[in-house]
Amino acid sequence: MNEILKGDLNDLELILNQVKAEGLEFLNGINDRRTSTDIQPMEYSDLEVQGSGTLAALAAFKSRFDDIIVASTGPRYWGFVTGGSTPAAIAGDWLATVYDQNTQTVKGQGDISANIELETVRLLLQLLRLPEDAYLGGFVTGATMSNFSCLAVARQWLGAQQGEDIAKTGVSGTLKVLSAMPHSSAVKSLALLGLGSQNLIKVKVMPGNREAMDLNDLEQQILELKGAPFILISSAGTVNTVDFDDFEAISKLRERYHFWWHIDAAFGAFAACAPAYAHLLKGWEQADSITVDCHKWLNVPYENAFFLVKKEHRLLQMACFQNSNAPYLGDPLDNFNYLNFLPENSRRLKALPAWFSLKAYGAKGYQDIVEGCIARAKELAEFIEKEDAFELLAPVRLNTVCFTLKGAGDKAFEFLRILNDQGVVFMTPTVYGGKHAIRAAFVNWRTTEKDVLVAIEELNQALKKI
Ligand SMILES: Cc1ncc(COP(=O)(O)O)c(C=O)c1O
Repeated sequence: MNEILKGDLNDLELILNQVKAEGLEFLNGINDRRTSTDIQPMEYSDLEVQGSGTLAALAAFKSRFDDIIVASTGPRYWGFVTGGSTPAAIAGDWLATVYDQNTQTVKGQGDISANIELETVRLLLQLLRLPEDAYLGGFVTGATMSNFSCLAVARQWLGAQQGEDIAKTGVSGTLKVLSAMPHSSAVKSLALLGLGSQNLIKVKVMPGNREAMDLNDLEQQILELKGAPFILISSAGTVNTVDFDDFEAISKLRERYHFWWHIDAAFGAFAACAPAYAHLLKGWEQADSITVDCHKWLNVPYENAFFLVKKEHRLLQMACFQNSNAPYLGDPLDNFNYLNFLPENSRRLKALPAWFSLKAYGAKGYQDIVEGCIARAKELAEFIEKEDAFELLAPVRLNTVCFTLKGAGDKAFEFLRILNDQGVVFMTPTVYGGKHAIRAAFVNWRTTEKDVLVAIEELNQALKKI
């Protein structure tokens, strides 16, 4: 064994204790850590012939990067849709690394990790109040890969309607995909899947400051397809204003028209945890496939999401992802193996952080997290509405505040730069209704009323500088 590795093996307890101490220092100081850093091109270090061992690597890392790692897991990081990590999720994530399983089969010789993943999916279905037996679920790196995986099966379904096995023959001709406000990652998935991002048929949104699909226009567009099967991508939570498509109405359309129904519920799925908001998802259990992100509102560390595909489409799913030409893996129908049902072959025990967090906090824990975030969004929106300098661009439908500078929208991005530069709260830019705007998305379990007050103070400070 290499001498330095041997030394590290001897020092394992010391190393892990040191890492624990670093982790604790970081997490205990998270409220005071900056939420942004001015990223400069850096000088990259070189590979040494003789390594220096883990403790020296840790010291070198700390001296170069500790000060500039931002508090993206902290309570006032409201950019994009960035969740935090619960203590239980951190525990699960650390142990997933320590166990280092390759999560594949559920029976026969091997390890138990695929069963842990299936159990976690079951817990998630219970949390989200979806029918337990209807969906096959699996973990992927994020909602982008979840959208990709679901839409791959949708593509296979579409081919099958025309007697084609697209996984084998490739896409020929233009396949029909309809959506009103797809997330950019769903459009990216169309590009990756050879469906062509520009082939998306745009459905109108409802009038009156809405981002939800106009169902009259949807039906009109369906009629124009003259009976051709298609994929419908719908939204449970648009990014700017968290609008939801009307899933009950869409399920009724399914009785009359022939389509694959996908829902991107990356973070909106968690409305199911809050009784006052669960109605937004009414009817979603009819969808063929659903995307849910875990590194958003479930508050587990990156990279973590899962997909759900109706079990009745299992053969289509397998046709897409089957790792054929590997006889040593056995008959995929006989022996369930995750690698035949999703993009990756080798994969870590991604479900473990979610398993730990779900067991640790249960349905009530997640109800509290979700309701807390919604309350925080409303508190910030109340300030924005009252303050003359700002304009709230849409009602707070769930957990996101979308606003701009009243009468000075052209300065919104400059204002945001100043705000983020203060380093205490972080938000991200967007364009909504043609206006430059700012988004604050609340999905972190740590965020309290006090954080909103701190952010208000920061907004007022930034106003003085613009
Ligand atoms: C609705 C929606 N779908 C998909 C994504 C992509 O998620 P990820 O970055 O985890 O791939 C996001 C990210 O914000 C999202 O909000």
